[in-house]
Amino acid sequence: MKLIFPTDEHYPFQDEKARAVALQIANDFDPDLRITGSDGLDFYAISRFDKDPRRIKANGLQDEIILWTKGQREWQEATPNANAWFLRSNHDDRLQKYLMRHPEMYDLKVLQLPVLLGLDALGIVWEHEKGENANYELLIENRLLIIHGEIVRKFSAYTAKAILDQEMNQISILSGHTHRGGSYFIQSRLGVIQAHECFCLCSLNPGYVRKPNWQQGIAMATVTKNCLSVEMVPFSRRGSKVYAQWRDKEYHN
Ligand SMILES: [Fe+2]
Ligand SMILES: [Fe+2]
Repeated sequence: MKLIFPTDEHYPFQDEKARAVALQIANDFDPDLRITGSDGLDFYAISRFDKDPRRIKANGLQDEIILWTKGQREWQEATPNANAWFLRSNHDDRLQKYLMRHPEMYDLKVLQLPVLLGLDALGIVWEHEKGENANYELLIENRLLIIHGEIVRKFSAYTAKAILDQEMNQISILSGHTHRGGSYFIQSRLGVIQAHECFCLCSLNPGYVRKPNWQQGIAMATVTKNCLSVEMVPFSRRGSKVYAQWRDKEYHN
């Protein structure tokens, strides 16, 4: 089983150059599973945080969803043999939180995230039968847990360690949320346990934070009966181009 975890695209603040590199690598990797969601949409307009009114005007909710959908089509094209699974996150949940503040609209089916995003038409799995807590985590072969995450520590891989602590070091983890790349390993009685923070694919100049310590990149995992192999590919910038090196090949936008 090969999976790819493109996380934290944050439409409409996605970085198309970084995405272009990630899409090429995804195409060569040819995964069986693609994780989507995971701060795929920013939902800037309905955030509870202070907002720049000029940005709300430029980035309406409908435009954001159109951009995200276009992005999904590109991921589908790049990974034609992959099933897609929606991983919920704090940004994707902004819609539900907004509806909780406007309870008179809460039960409108058209405003439920899977319906609003047209996940069925896109062939993206949302496990409806699990009710309100669906799609916050995906467990692969009882050995790899994929979550978006809520914790943010100061440095790369510190969050990965914190998440492993929370899980009592019992399972390997891929997470998003921190917008950093970082890997942390331990030797336990269960064997090697590993946790990875899986980069971001959004702009590195988001406006609400100056010079963030974030890294763009892509994470891929191969899970076999005997091995869990995670490949973390950081991207670098030279001039106006984004580059990556993976399996003896250079990629750029
Ligand atoms: Fe994020
Ligand atoms: Fe997040």
